Amino acid sequence: VEAVGLRLLHLSDTHFCQGETIPGVDPVANLATFFGELVDRRLDIDACVITGDLAHSGEEWAYRRLRLLLNSVPWPTRVVPGNHDVADLGRRLVGFPYWPDDDVWSWQVSDGFALIGLNSAVPGYHHGSLSIDSLASVEGMAKAASQQGEWLLALHHPPLEVGHWWMDGQKLLNGSDALLAIADRFKAVAILCGHLHTTGFIQRPGRTPVLVAPGTAHEVLFDDGLERPLRFRRRSPRALLHKFSSERLTTVELTAGGASWLVDGHPWEEERQRTNSRGPARQ
Ligand SMILES: [Fe+2]
Ligand SMILES: [Fe+2]
Repeated sequence: VEAVGLRLLHLSDTHFCQGETIPGVDPVANLATFFGELVDRRLDIDACVITGDLAHSGEEWAYRRLRLLLNSVPWPTRVVPGNHDVADLGRRLVGFPYWPDDDVWSWQVSDGFALIGLNSAVPGYHHGSLSIDSLASVEGMAKAASQQGEWLLALHHPPLEVGHWWMDGQKLLNGSDALLAIADRFKAVAILCGHLHTTGFIQRPGRTPVLVAPGTAHEVLFDDGLERPLRFRRRSPRALLHKFSSERLTTVELTAGGASWLVDGHPWEEERQRTNSRGPARQ
């Protein structure tokens, strides 16, 4: 029998807005479909974290809608903001318990696991940055968490490059080395990020891995060429399910939902008359 672990649903980049993020992608429908299918599939999920870009352009409507959707799922959730968010507005509207008041917080998810979340966004910019104060808070919480059990970090911007020219230019530009040093020193199990809109794992043997969840809205195509513009793809919503135990870290990608189409029917006049007269309905 495997030791007690933690099954953590890791979502990112929900990009809520009214309408579409790119043609054919309705981010709210995507997440609603995704949640609905996960519940229907009876997946064993202890908790959920969303690693930023909750709203596409920081709209009030988006944050209110996200709160309603988070109210509808059976697992507890916490969120951190990303570069597309308006943190003050989002914190107020998504609110307790999903969006803690402080820029750095620690959540005791279960007996053996704490999740430390941090706001890495810089208002008006796409890259990420951590202040000296934030790093000091992370260090204090990491020390406390490591004395009680396992702990994880969650922030929007990956602290390391992945080889995608454009996205690497928007990574965590300030504080990456210090954050990684804290994670390594206090033996974080993983650093959970988003922002890339693709799945990506950065393994560092003997040290804390960086795990990037895909977005539930549009995909950003991975591209290893220099100075190429971003390209996007419409595809089914997806996320990562991490299972942490003392033995191992198991990650699977979950996809759910997909495209749907509205198909117009073409009733015959005979059918129209029959239906209105409640006559026998032939096949
Ligand atoms: Fe994003
Ligand atoms: Fe982002």
